[in-house]
Amino acid sequence: MLSDSPAIVACTVSRDVQRFDLLIEDMQATVGDRWGDLGFAEATTFLDQPDAELLDFVVLAIDGLDMADLDPVLAVIAAARQRGIRVILVAEEVTPRVLHQLLREGADDFIPYPLPEGELARAVTRPKRKNGAAKAVAEGQLPAAPTQGEHSGVVIPVYSLAGGAGGTTLAVNLAWELACLGGSPPPRVALLDLGLQFGSVATYLDLPRREAVQDLLGDAARMDGEALRSALQAYDGRLHVLTAPLDLVPLDLVGSAEIARLIETARVNFDYIVIDMPSAMSDWGEAVLNAAHLCFAVIQIDMRSAQNTLRLKRALTSEGLPFDKLRFVLNRAPGFADLNGRSRVKRMAESLGISIELQLPDGGRAIAEAADQGIPLSEAAPRSALRREIVKLARSIHTVNLATLAPQKIRA
Ligand SMILES: Nc1ncnc2c1ncn2[C@@H]1O[C@H](COP(=O)(O)OP(=O)(O)O)[C@@H](O)[C@H]1O
Ligand SMILES: [Mg+2]
Repeated sequence: MLSDSPAIVACTVSRDVQRFDLLIEDMQATVGDRWGDLGFAEATTFLDQPDAELLDFVVLAIDGLDMADLDPVLAVIAAARQRGIRVILVAEEVTPRVLHQLLREGADDFIPYPLPEGELARAVTRPKRKNGAAKAVAEGQLPAAPTQGEHSGVVIPVYSLAGGAGGTTLAVNLAWELACLGGSPPPRVALLDLGLQFGSVATYLDLPRREAVQDLLGDAARMDGEALRSALQAYDGRLHVLTAPLDLVPLDLVGSAEIARLIETARVNFDYIVIDMPSAMSDWGEAVLNAAHLCFAVIQIDMRSAQNTLRLKRALTSEGLPFDKLRFVLNRAPGFADLNGRSRVKRMAESLGISIELQLPDGGRAIAEAADQGIPLSEAAPRSALRREIVKLARSIHTVNLATLAPQKIRA
């Protein structure tokens, strides 16, 4: 269907473009007649030819059926990338996992189908993502908060398996310590409060809740680096925080697509994305788990934690979700000398079939007081054993991350 006309500036690639009739309209509105339509295999061949150089962008339109075999889709992305042509994904009924993969493989943008008004035109004019983080850093291209990011962040959700167990305390202080690690440039850290209704990150850092958060979450299609930036607040100029929305929002304000998009946007703009997860399981929990590199599940030695661990294990396993991604953190752990307590810990881990990878000490009143004053432990209780453990954790995460990043940096 591609004509020989040199005026062609874009093409759609899909199994059957008629299935995406709104896209046809939008292409027409954006570039007039100067576009063509190709199947996946045709597109890969075409993109290999010198003519393809004239293309400004390619729109890959996919739906649930295409998920069965992603190879042809990935081949088109690779071929377009090779030529430096922008790839815009238009997707309907595609899981967050697949979206995430396609974005990671080099698609520049994602728009849900049916297309929101004017979104294609906007995507086409947005600045393009650069090739590799390391290259951009070397060329000094990194602005303070890039719109389309150069980063490839580590996603770290923190779950609290029983209210009060200490999930938010760990999330807030881990994010803060990561942001304070130093280095040049220091790691860029985002802390996202996904406790959409009763999230308390704002309180723990004494930040106001903002209306912009609601706007951001309510409009996935428009969510990009710019939109994310306008909803984030900097704590002490270093830690970028997305608080829970100002008003009590319905839990179904967001779905998997919004959350996947939020995390992906944060991931390309930050080195670490720490997420304070709500204790209620939601539809989009899977999107977070899929995007996560490292999950912490905070428990205490008590019946609630034990029972909730078992429930969560059953729920995740029955859905085929990766329970073993969770690293268990025992908060308010018994001290070294408390032999009795230590044997209880051992029995609890055995009976739940988990291994407890990290133990955090009880810090007494000082910890809750820091939270109430809205300051991190590094300021309120810098010498507390709890804070020292969290610093150690932040350092080890950063060391491992730098070690795994190194080979990619050389390649880029
Ligand atoms: N290791 C600890 N020692 C002392 N107090 C703690 C510790 N961890 C958490 N707390 C306090 O317990 C309360 C609940 O913690 P929080 O992190 O909000 O739990 P969650 O997010 O799991 O509901 C807070 O007042 C917090 O300051
Ligand atoms: Mg909490």
